[in-house]
Amino acid sequence: MIFITGGAGFIGANFVHHWLGQSDESVLVLDALTYAGNLESLASVASNPRYHFSQVDICDGPAVSALLKQHSPHAILHFAAESHVDRSIHGPGDFIRTNVQGTFELLEAARAYWNELPAPEKAAFRFLHVSTDEVYGSLGPSDPAFTETTPYAPNSPYSASKAASDHLVRAWHHSYGLPVLTTNCSNNYGPYQFPEKLIPLMIHNALAGKPLPVYGDGQNVRDWLYVQDHCRAIARVLEAGVLGETYNVGGHNEVKNLDVVHTLCDLLDQLRPRTDGSSYRAQITFVTDRPGHDRRYAIDAGKIKRELGWTPQETFATGLRRTVQWYLDHPDWVAHVTSGEYRNWVGKQYGGAA
Ligand code: NAD
Ligand code: DAU
Repeated sequence: MIFITGGAGFIGANFVHHWLGQSDESVLVLDALTYAGNLESLASVASNPRYHFSQVDICDGPAVSALLKQHSPHAILHFAAESHVDRSIHGPGDFIRTNVQGTFELLEAARAYWNELPAPEKAAFRFLHVSTDEVYGSLGPSDPAFTETTPYAPNSPYSASKAASDHLVRAWHHSYGLPVLTTNCSNNYGPYQFPEKLIPLMIHNALAGKPLPVYGDGQNVRDWLYVQDHCRAIARVLEAGVLGETYNVGGHNEVKNLDVVHTLCDLLDQLRPRTDGSSYRAQITFVTDRPGHDRRYAIDAGKIKRELGWTPQETFATGLRRTVQWYLDHPDWVAHVTSGEYRNWVGKQYGGAA
């Protein structure tokens, strides 16, 4: 069995589907079910005998320890986090609690469990920490892409909390020998993403006839990776990654935000045209920039390609079309997660963004 923290979130849920489809092993999802945790994303595997769920907060060390003792997993895949940059600017406390304190509690529970394992199981155990490219800070237009040796320079409360968690994971390897692996990934997109992040928010707002809020001048660049490619990368690192190493994961898809929004509008114009015949582009609204907004991220994924043979399979064009189609095909999933409440502060902050 493997443990998947945050398995009811966007990437975690995609990973559960991926794992159950490609492995004979069981999974236990450990998830506190915050606003971002959604068991509807796991509904289609709920009756799979290899799928198990426990509602648990990773900050609750004794509860995590009890689950480790009960299920004896050979790996912990750590996805659980507060993940949204805007929310971290508005209220950083939850990010420090879950991303820093929660990772610490999880590492301590894992260390105590691992220390008691018999030698073969001890050698086989893995703690895989899922992190982000945002720990490296922001790039200028002609700077080279982030590598695994780029110095850490996190700029938002979110990225600072993830950087702290990366350092804890590293230290637990160096000080205690805990067999850890870390992945630092670029922006994911695909099914089951909460509609607070750029791509699902734009699809949702477009269909709802709301403004499409582009922060600042819309020229910020992100390196987009289809979530299934990320899941394959994580499975590969789990299988063959060198202990204590970090691996950058990216999609080779550097795109300016405004171009992402234009492409989404064009796809929706084809797949679900507006009733008045005009383009969804008419809904684009430029709003106040995100405070401290990182200008550009780009990942050099050469190491994971050279050493583990992983490359992304989905192009941005095919992945985005697939994603738009998924949201069009799953209006109930979107409706059930869209209370409207979560965007209230963003509306106040950016004006007209909600
Ligand atoms: P998400 O916000 O969609 O899901 C997070 C999940 O963690 C939710 O199910 C939530 O209920 C759970 N959770 C939060 N606090 C918890 C706690 N204290 N105890 C237990 N569970 C808790 O996040 P995501 O986008 O799926 O990201 C998953 C991981 O990948 C995060 O660590 C994030 O930093 C990292 N990451 C995300 C991206 C991206 O583009 N989304 C890119 C790179 C790295
Ligand atoms: O780079 C990896 C990171 O990508 C992950 O670690 C984070 O968990 C994930 O949330 C994501 O962070 P970003 O801040 O890049 O993602 P977001 O979808 O919030 O924003 C993408 C870009 O779009 C960013 O430049 C801000 C801009 N944006 C975002 C929203 C929500 C807008 O212009 N308008 C919006 O309404």
